[in-house]
Amino acid sequence: MCGIVGYVGNRPALSIVIDGLRRLEYRGYDSAGVAIIDSELVKTEKKAGKLANLEKALAERSGDGIEAGTTGIGHTRWATHGGPTDRNAHPHMSADGRVAVIHNGIIENFARLRAELEATGVEFLSDTDTECAAHLLAAEMRALREAGGVDGPALLAEGMRLVVRRLEGAFTLLAVDVDVPDAVVAARRNSPLVVGRGNGENFLASDVSAFIEHTREAIELGQDQVVLITPAGIEITDFDGAPAIGKEFHIDWDASAAEKGGYDYFMLKEIAEQPQAIADTLLGRLSERGEIILDEVRLTDQDLRDVDKVFIVACGTSFHAGMIAKYAIEHWVRIPCEVELASEFRYRDPILDRSTLVIVISQSGETMDTLMALRHAKEQKARVLAICNTNGSTIPRESDAVLYTHGGPEIAVASTKAFLTQLAACYLIGLHLAQIRGVMYADEVAAVVEKLRQTPDGMRTLLDRMEEVRELARDLRTASTILFIGRHVGFPVALEGALKLKELAYMHAEGFAAGELKHGPIALIDEGTPVVCVVPSPAGRGVIRDKVVSNIQEVRARGARTIVIAEEGDEDVRAFADHLIPVPHTPTLLAPLMTTIPLQILACEIATARGNDVDQPRNLAKSVTVE
Ligand code: F6R
Repeated sequence: MCGIVGYVGNRPALSIVIDGLRRLEYRGYDSAGVAIIDSELVKTEKKAGKLANLEKALAERSGDGIEAGTTGIGHTRWATHGGPTDRNAHPHMSADGRVAVIHNGIIENFARLRAELEATGVEFLSDTDTECAAHLLAAEMRALREAGGVDGPALLAEGMRLVVRRLEGAFTLLAVDVDVPDAVVAARRNSPLVVGRGNGENFLASDVSAFIEHTREAIELGQDQVVLITPAGIEITDFDGAPAIGKEFHIDWDASAAEKGGYDYFMLKEIAEQPQAIADTLLGRLSERGEIILDEVRLTDQDLRDVDKVFIVACGTSFHAGMIAKYAIEHWVRIPCEVELASEFRYRDPILDRSTLVIVISQSGETMDTLMALRHAKEQKARVLAICNTNGSTIPRESDAVLYTHGGPEIAVASTKAFLTQLAACYLIGLHLAQIRGVMYADEVAAVVEKLRQTPDGMRTLLDRMEEVRELARDLRTASTILFIGRHVGFPVALEGALKLKELAYMHAEGFAAGELKHGPIALIDEGTPVVCVVPSPAGRGVIRDKVVSNIQEVRARGARTIVIAEEGDEDVRAFADHLIPVPHTPTLLAPLMTTIPLQILACEIATARGNDVDQPRNLAKSVTVE
């Protein structure tokens, strides 16, 4: 989510770090900052808002030598702990001003560490989890110096190893220490970090785009590794100090593709990021024992027990996430759940009161239709819970409670990873309600949690075998219409597949509940009409699956060309599929996390084959702030 850059060499670090941050700004632009070692001082500058604010501040302070130092780190932030302010911007310094740290991720045990540090007299200057790491590192460095035995860059690496062994959660940390002027140390657990190998200089970054201008030789770090870069070398160890070897690779694309991390479009990159985005959204919200932990949601357990009806209100793709959530919430929580388009909600005069929970879903947090629906719900005294991807935006600010999705910045206009992370958040809320209200046994919740935890791996497997879908897409580029059908949670997935195709490829597309076809839409089927069919799992009794298979036969009998998305191992369905796209097994309610992915790729590839700009489709905007 945040972007991180480090440099050590013979050239001025500042401009290299700033250029790197510019390429990483897609990862977050709540604030930006740098720390440069120069003349026995760590010089820092940090500013809330986009990188341009930092650049302006740097231009105004020129002359103090910050532009001359040859060791530096930089950060562009997507806020998690602490609002997007100057003081929460990274780098964070130790109290003695000797150590500067930047961080991507979430340190889950930061509250305990902070209390421990405060008890020793440390004063915190920010609300971030990161600041703990700066104070801890300074303390470890002091202790190591007093003990003697190690010095120079090795001391910095050992200090970092001692710190990371105390941290829980996900992190990439970069640090510099003024007493070790020609070194940058980094550690990685569950957050990205790559090393760039230069000539007399070396680089660190969240992705290679940050240093592609300077070197194409890179090293991928493994999990739980510490890396020390100096002008002369790169040293990798595990968290215990045992030497480790990173995976070397050559970057075979050039700087112009860099902003997109090597992908042709942001959308492709965002599709590829989905497994990590789901893992990030679940991170810290599932206990070891398989319970849901949503302490951050500011509604009391009693508030949630009092709820007798749920409304989900959203627009577009977020509305489709809500449609899927309805199936899960009603099944798990056993209370009525209605889903409503935000633009229709308040004009219908819905029946709401204090015991109604209104869940508003919005990636941007700024969609005017959703905001107006939220205000209407609050006027009627309903409690409002937002699911949102954008920290500090209006919708979460005005809601009674918020559950943030941790999808990271979504730059392509068409929603992809935001959609799947919204689904993950809906599942968490559904299970949380069921847990609090005692309608599911702990082992039932734990069983679903286990399956949720496994989805990122399944998604990765699926993403790795999308080549056939791409080929099929090129073949379908001249179709005049494509229809999508599904039942149960497969119905909103069909609607989402059709929406993606319309907005990206500018083609006619429609999604239908498969059972509704015979009530009219089946008349649209002609010889060769492509119909994408979302088939549920045959697991259990497989009743819904059998019904969808009958519907597939109906369209085939009328000449349709069927593109069937079905669970791998469901061999019987092959007989009715002109093209079969197998997806990994997932329980029915969670299946949209898988079945949506081929539809995103299909739409993206058809649009590309038709020569459209998939990141910025015509007539659309990322954040819709008019009603
Ligand atoms: C479609 C898409 C839109 C948004 C809708 C709501 O790909 O992105 O349909 O889902 O405009 O936007 P948010 O979620 O920001 O409220």
